[in-house]
Amino acid sequence: MNEDSGKVPAHVSIIMDGNGRWAKERGKDRTFGHVEGVERVRDTVEAAVEEGVSVLSLYAFSEENWNRPGTEVTALMKLLMKSVQGERETLMKNKVRFRALGNRERLSPVLNAAISALEESTKDNDALTLVVFISYSGRWDILQAAKKVAARSASDPSFDATAMTAEDFSKCLVTAEFPDPDLIIRTSGEIRISNYLLWQGAYSEFYFTDVLWPDFTKEEFRKALGEYARRDRRYGKVK
Ligand code: FPP
Repeated sequence: MNEDSGKVPAHVSIIMDGNGRWAKERGKDRTFGHVEGVERVRDTVEAAVEEGVSVLSLYAFSEENWNRPGTEVTALMKLLMKSVQGERETLMKNKVRFRALGNRERLSPVLNAAISALEESTKDNDALTLVVFISYSGRWDILQAAKKVAARSASDPSFDATAMTAEDFSKCLVTAEFPDPDLIIRTSGEIRISNYLLWQGAYSEFYFTDVLWPDFTKEEFRKALGEYARRDRRYGKVK
């Protein structure tokens, strides 16, 4: 038995992939897949609460996704807005705290305001924290952290950047308040990290499944947690 046997990951992160292909298989446009994808977001949040996960984070929109056709970007932004405005009651009922992380300056002021309002009204909920990464990329995050360090070095003579530890640097990332993900799930058969949590995922367990995101049911989520419980995490050490 290893020390993680039977354990529930504190932080599960998901790269929700395959909405477009799911829609195409049905002869529909890509947005149809994203709409169904939101339903699985709801199911997964519920399952995470039921399983006792503390933080569930979702890659909803990458910095690279801005380069998709304008119509798809608009549809995704509309869906995000609709979810942020429409899910408040469900989040409150399930005691879910909501946080959105990423390059928020790129979002429209109305979406940003709606996000901030949802963060504020759910801030005392404690069953689960739902982190949605929007306009996020791992390199962007590391770069903005490095810029923070550079700015502090320039303005604060008592600050010695050369003495920083990895832990200190982690505090400059947008994820500062959250533990690193124990488990990163990617759906749809793609076996890559795609500029996601590059720093934070250093010791994460990975779970790849061929299931497309709109087909990722609670049962699929539980399967991933089961697989995680069987993993032997060593963090580079010998046991
Ligand atoms: C990947 O599928 C999915 C996305 C880029 C968007 C995910 C967004 C949602 C499920 C909706 C909003 C989320 C929240 C948190 C309410 P893809 O389009 O890359 O599919 P493909 O690889 O088959 O083309």
